[in-house]
Amino acid sequence: MSETLLSQKSTTAEAGDRTVDPALADASRALAARGTVLLTNDGTLPLAAGTRTALFGRIQKDWIAVGYGSGGDVNPPYVTNLLDSLRESGSVQVDEQLAARYEAWCAENPADPGEIWGAWPRHYPEMPLEDAAVNEAARRNDVAVVVIGRAAGEDRDAVLEPGSYYLTDEERGLLAQVTEAFERTVVVVDTGNLIDLAWLEEFSVDALVLAWAGGMEAGNAIADVLTGAVEPGGRLTATIARRYEDCPAAPNFGDAAVTNYAEDIFVGYRYFETFAQDAVLFPFGFGLGYTEFDLSPVDLTTSEGTIQLSVRVTNTGGRPGSEVVQAYVEVPGVALSQPARALAAYARTPELAPGESHELRLSVDWADIASYDDAGVTGHRSAFVLEPGTYRFHVGHDVRRTSEAGTAEVLELRVVEQLEEAAAVDPEHGFDRMVVRTGADGRPEVGYEPVPTRTESLRERILSRLPGAVAAPEGEQPSFQDVLDGSVDLETFIGSLTPRELADIAYGDVTMDSPLGAAGNAGAIGGVSAALRARGVIPAITTDGPSGIRIADYASLLPCGTALASAWDPAAVRELSALHGQEMLRKGSDILLGPGMNIHRDPLCGRNFEYFSEDPLVSGLTGAAQVAGIQSQGVAACPKHFACNNQEFERIWVDARVSERALREIYLRGFRIMVRESSPWTIMTSYNKINGVWGHYHYDLVTTILRGEWGFEGLVMTDWWMRMAQDPDFPALRDSAYRVRAGVDVLMPGSIEHSGDTKEDSVYESHRFPDGLTLGEMQRTARHVLTYLAAVHPQGHRMGRGERPED
Ligand code: BGC
Repeated sequence: MSETLLSQKSTTAEAGDRTVDPALADASRALAARGTVLLTNDGTLPLAAGTRTALFGRIQKDWIAVGYGSGGDVNPPYVTNLLDSLRESGSVQVDEQLAARYEAWCAENPADPGEIWGAWPRHYPEMPLEDAAVNEAARRNDVAVVVIGRAAGEDRDAVLEPGSYYLTDEERGLLAQVTEAFERTVVVVDTGNLIDLAWLEEFSVDALVLAWAGGMEAGNAIADVLTGAVEPGGRLTATIARRYEDCPAAPNFGDAAVTNYAEDIFVGYRYFETFAQDAVLFPFGFGLGYTEFDLSPVDLTTSEGTIQLSVRVTNTGGRPGSEVVQAYVEVPGVALSQPARALAAYARTPELAPGESHELRLSVDWADIASYDDAGVTGHRSAFVLEPGTYRFHVGHDVRRTSEAGTAEVLELRVVEQLEEAAAVDPEHGFDRMVVRTGADGRPEVGYEPVPTRTESLRERILSRLPGAVAAPEGEQPSFQDVLDGSVDLETFIGSLTPRELADIAYGDVTMDSPLGAAGNAGAIGGVSAALRARGVIPAITTDGPSGIRIADYASLLPCGTALASAWDPAAVRELSALHGQEMLRKGSDILLGPGMNIHRDPLCGRNFEYFSEDPLVSGLTGAAQVAGIQSQGVAACPKHFACNNQEFERIWVDARVSERALREIYLRGFRIMVRESSPWTIMTSYNKINGVWGHYHYDLVTTILRGEWGFEGLVMTDWWMRMAQDPDFPALRDSAYRVRAGVDVLMPGSIEHSGDTKEDSVYESHRFPDGLTLGEMQRTARHVLTYLAAVHPQGHRMGRGERPED
């Protein structure tokens, strides 16, 4: 097997276990190919058997398999690269003269990401080549494949500079040389995040392949795609604009302190399809295969609760393949502004032989296409409503290439769900948000209106909903093991816990790399003190995530989030994740810190590679598949970062100011779908503020919405460490007391002593204050943690290296 060992690891496992489950490697390879998006192709791809192929660009060897940071710091036993994988395929003839030159240069100029957190390179310098060498290669070969690579990572957004969002002069020079010398040029962009592709209109490129950072099997996967062993199955999960400046969030991205989400619900294609179709280079949902499909006829039927669409899909081309059928709804804009299209359902066919047909059925719940009225303009403030009018459904291959499938009428306004104001914009921080205005020519134009702001008192809401306390049982103290074997109920056990024990449960273990679990873990939860363990409470071990288990030992590196989502194939993601869950059991991970569920609000966000899409339905269904797969093995997933972690620059300080409508329809919706479909056992809050409140103190997000409205029953943990602060509504509370009142159960990874909490204001101390935490609130936290532990029976702690040193 071809191998390029990664050099970027902060942890290494010289003597570790390099065994990889072959089924996991195969599934990873298949999904990396299925998520690869073919953007243009004049017939050059797939490369015919025996094609003499010259590979250009250092990334052919130094393949970028993942992004940097917590999501990338996995020790994969191997990483395949395109050069070696193409050689091993035996399908094409690789130009060895040129390959030898690249191999020697790459060895002398290693692609070293360095040791400094957050300072990762965004690209690696390219090998210079004289015109003569390129011209000679053109004489020796039939086709050129140029590979361009971009890295990205946590704590570092992309920038509008060569080597980041734009090509470097060297890369442009290489493209110019090769496309002039060769008759046929294929370009492969190996990246985690979108980059500028407008250069496509300058150079004579015959096929363009977008290869998302695809994990350890990515080289093999791309070789499979180029040689036609499998088709490129990917469809874009975010629009590619011709110019960055045309992206809807561009005027409001990357500020250190405040970001107004002024584009509101008009994120990605919702903006482009409504207002700026011409600004698009490749539309949302777009991707070519190696065959063609006809979608007809499309039939639409409605019932009280759902709209059913059925479509006959026929492979009209000459090769086998599968199609992603996408259904969009055009909601009538009455009092509420509406985007021209919103994805309502999608499905992938099985692989169809040439000439074969398949009947696909898509179902859309009326409730899922309702809109949230945060201003009361429909007469129903804080409700999901269906405004009266004609709902048009468009079915097709991408957001543009659709045909009208039929319409459904709503005769009078329907309130689908009456909710309550939650997480609204602070009245002192109002801004104008985007709405649709009708232009002089009758076409939609961008307009703005003031965003609705908060009218309710959070303090009163919290006080009126304080949880009651469970009484302490009489007699002998039960053990948590009695709960596990069913002889004592959970409430009795919770009632028996002392304030000290209840407080301990609200913190993770001392630090990352807890001695209670496998070396290199991200921290422990649950039985983190000797006293708790004496009561039978077991510790559970967390590890990053999302695309591999980040421990000191070797672990598989899987396709990044964007690659998984681009497959538009939740069933395949679930299967891969179930195999991943099995590896978690083998490696001692109880909770994988992923999937990454934030929205691709802007192409410059440094962690987009960990996230799925600009669309909440794609995010929700892909995330649900990952969670369900992992949890099918009795281990847990921890979807993150709840919510609006949409930029990395100053992520721990920035305040994301966003309307309730955009929150509920875009930024929270993926989480909601995922919670509904897969019931995750844990969730991680985000570092940033959402409308003035840090994620780890956000009562409305966590308690009002996640638990109250969606019925989430698991535990909520912070992202790693938190900002210490006083509760503005309850000045007696600070830090973790403020956090526990909000319903955020566990501060990760720090224990009471090491968390940075002010000692007097810790969870334990605060319950003794007048106006401090109530016993009921502390028990609520314990209930969430213990419910998870009782349901999942974590095993990872058995891999622990010893007991946690006690104070
Ligand atoms: C990241 C999380 C990650 C955690 C633990 C944080 O910096 O934002 O996504 O899971 O670290 O490594």
